[in-house]
Amino acid sequence: MTQLAAAPLLLTPGPLSTHPAVREAMLRDHGSRDPAFTAMNQRIRDQLVALVAPGDPTWTCVPVQGSGTFGVEAALGSLVPLNGELLVVSNGAYGRRLVEIARRLEIPVRVVKAPEDEPPDPNEVARVLGRNGGITHVAVVHCETTTGLLNPVGAIAAVVARHGRRLIVDAMSALGALPLLAADTPALEAVVASSNKCLEGAPGVAFCITRVTALREAAGQARSLSLDLSAQWARFNQDGQWRFTPPTHVLAALDVALRLHAEEGGVAGRGARYAENCRVLVDGLRGLGFQTLLPDALQAPIIVTFLEPGHPGWDFDAFYNALAARGFLIYPGKLTERPSFRVGCIGQVFPDDLRRFVAATQDVLLQLGLPDGAPSPSIGAAP
Ligand SMILES: Cc1ncc(COP(=O)(O)O)c(C=O)c1O
Repeated sequence: MTQLAAAPLLLTPGPLSTHPAVREAMLRDHGSRDPAFTAMNQRIRDQLVALVAPGDPTWTCVPVQGSGTFGVEAALGSLVPLNGELLVVSNGAYGRRLVEIARRLEIPVRVVKAPEDEPPDPNEVARVLGRNGGITHVAVVHCETTTGLLNPVGAIAAVVARHGRRLIVDAMSALGALPLLAADTPALEAVVASSNKCLEGAPGVAFCITRVTALREAAGQARSLSLDLSAQWARFNQDGQWRFTPPTHVLAALDVALRLHAEEGGVAGRGARYAENCRVLVDGLRGLGFQTLLPDALQAPIIVTFLEPGHPGWDFDAFYNALAARGFLIYPGKLTERPSFRVGCIGQVFPDDLRRFVAATQDVLLQLGLPDGAPSPSIGAAP
């Protein structure tokens, strides 16, 4: 076997560092029609439902081959009726992607926008719903991964429920670490996420956790053949099979990842580790002079946006490469207006890893000739 170089630690929004047992699960082949595979598939679907609607048989889960966006596109394209209209609540790149998907699918769409560093205003959502009786569904991102901002899904859900509409949540970077329970979220119709973020599986499968009634009503209305959630759900009910080749190895990895998630204490346990990761990261980098985009009250413990320091010697590529040489991969920023970079707190990453990362960052600042740390943009030379 070829000798592999040591893997770097992925401090990114995903794909993420995984547990060795998750990677090992992919060393075995599975027959997609074998009863053992069918049972594993059902177990995965049941465990995913239990993250949102534990013990509630009126909810189900339909997985979809592909990355998270495939799941979002499947949900919007399947669940919004052909004469329906969508309202997207958007404060970042993934909110904008919801709008883009709706436009491609020719779903009439309105947008309530907020700046990237602010939560959207539920009262504005109420105003738009009040004025537009044709809107059937509202879609919002739970943790806006562009910035790491935690959106007020509960308050938005309450407004959507008051107006008798339905809510679709893109919980891609939150599910498994931040609670989102159907019982506490009125009007919730569907939650979309993927295998490779807080569930710490391998990339390659997305899923929609949704109400059985929504799938029943969606029969025959999907705007795509392969991304038809209702048809896939019907097929699972009929003979337990995927309609098209399932990502068998990725599902085997997710099966193990979900077991590890339960062993860690489920959403509460994983969320607590990520919160501690985030605290160590933010305290450590602030101690070196970096400034976070968001105040702590808006920050989800998923990914943190740091503003690029206004130091004339700052060079993101050099910073990235020097950290990579020390075994840490970070992520460029995704803000539309301010130069920034991001560091993730999720995956098989522990507080001690973040302590090592902070020490490595200090070392890199010295190497790059920023011995006094990273002065904040407001006092630096260039924003
Ligand atoms: C909130 C959110 N939605 C959607 C996506 C898209 O997922 P993918 O890149 O897997 O298609 C991401 C990816 O980071 C995300 O964070």
